[in-house]
Amino acid sequence: MYNSKIIGLGHYVPENVVTNDDLSKVMDTNDAWIQERTGIKERRHVVRGDGDTTTTMGVKAAKIAIERAGIDKDDIDFIVFATLSPDYYFPGPGVLVQRDLGIKSVGALDVRNQCSGFVYAVSIADQYIKTGMYKNVLVIGSELHSHGLDMTTRGRGVSVIFGDGAGAAILTREEDTTKGILSTHLHSEGQHAEELSLIAPGMGNRWVTDIMEDNDPNDESYFPHMNGQFVFKNAVVRFSEVIVEGLEKNKLKATDIDLLVPHQANLRISQFIQKKFQLSDDQVFNNIMKYGNTTAASIPIALTEAWEEGKVKSGDVVVLAAFGSGFTWGSVIIKW
Ligand SMILES: CC(C)(COP(=O)(O)OP(=O)(O)OC[C@H]1O[C@@H](n2cnc3c(N)ncnc32)[C@H](O)[C@@H]1OP(=O)(O)O)[C@@H](O)C(=O)NCCC(=O)NCCS
Repeated sequence: MYNSKIIGLGHYVPENVVTNDDLSKVMDTNDAWIQERTGIKERRHVVRGDGDTTTTMGVKAAKIAIERAGIDKDDIDFIVFATLSPDYYFPGPGVLVQRDLGIKSVGALDVRNQCSGFVYAVSIADQYIKTGMYKNVLVIGSELHSHGLDMTTRGRGVSVIFGDGAGAAILTREEDTTKGILSTHLHSEGQHAEELSLIAPGMGNRWVTDIMEDNDPNDESYFPHMNGQFVFKNAVVRFSEVIVEGLEKNKLKATDIDLLVPHQANLRISQFIQKKFQLSDDQVFNNIMKYGNTTAASIPIALTEAWEEGKVKSGDVVVLAAFGSGFTWGSVIIKW
């Protein structure tokens, strides 16, 4: 058995910055409300027609990660792509990355676990590497939310939160099993599936033709729905539980954490977790202020920026934790 470790990180966000004031021009909201409730100051939105998609952003992030890893694209043995906003209903973006990067015909897997997508994807990559089946795995989290949000006052409780972007990591074999990814922990509670969801079009629900036929101006089923307070209350509990689970598994204490990179759901959630574990500002990385919630992309974007800023050093205990739609949640404990 081996461990896996992250040897390359990259991120890409579209250039177009959308401030809270920009949003207040198209819906009844304001900078003070958004900052107070979420901590978000601005986010990035792909401009329609610019050519960026979930896949192309993922590819741009992946190219940086591959270069920093010092490997060739042909060294990649497997691709895992996490997103809730794929270019096509099918096929998923994994194969599009294989095509666009010109990688040989390795396996490409799509993960649909929303805000915990990257944590799930890392866990999958880690298992393949641990068993020795693959050596180098490309893991991508990418989202293009902005084209599918209700940018009117009706959708303001959701649409002010989400942003576009991508992050990628190269995981490789680590022969020293005291280093690299020490453990991953995954959970779900489908009982709350609809509390944070986008239910149409869906084959088991209403298909595109049904939506067109109904032509109902009050139809909100094809926009994301979020029961914000319910999500918030569950998030703080599950984040805490899954961090404790990971620490206990590795006989670590909260004081051993050098850096916690939480999914960037809401700055208030991160601050709650920071307080609960009595972590200093240096021990928790947040960038939601700049990018909003980029779902599966949020952890790899944050981890990349933390690494670029020198906040991730050899020997550090780095904890990734996520919670989101499903509900699904998970954590990754890394000895860098
Ligand atoms: C979404 C969230 C910021 C909303 O904050 P909240 O304090 O729960 O706010 P509420 O939804 O109760 O709404 C409070 C009021 O603000 C209003 N409001 C909602 N969105 C608004 C916006 N963008 N601008 C201004 N007012 C807004 C509501 O209409 C409501 O008005 P009312 O009191 O007159 O009815 C918060 O619930 C949250 O962050 N939840 C977790 C979300 C999350 O993490 N999601 C991702 C998980 S992966």
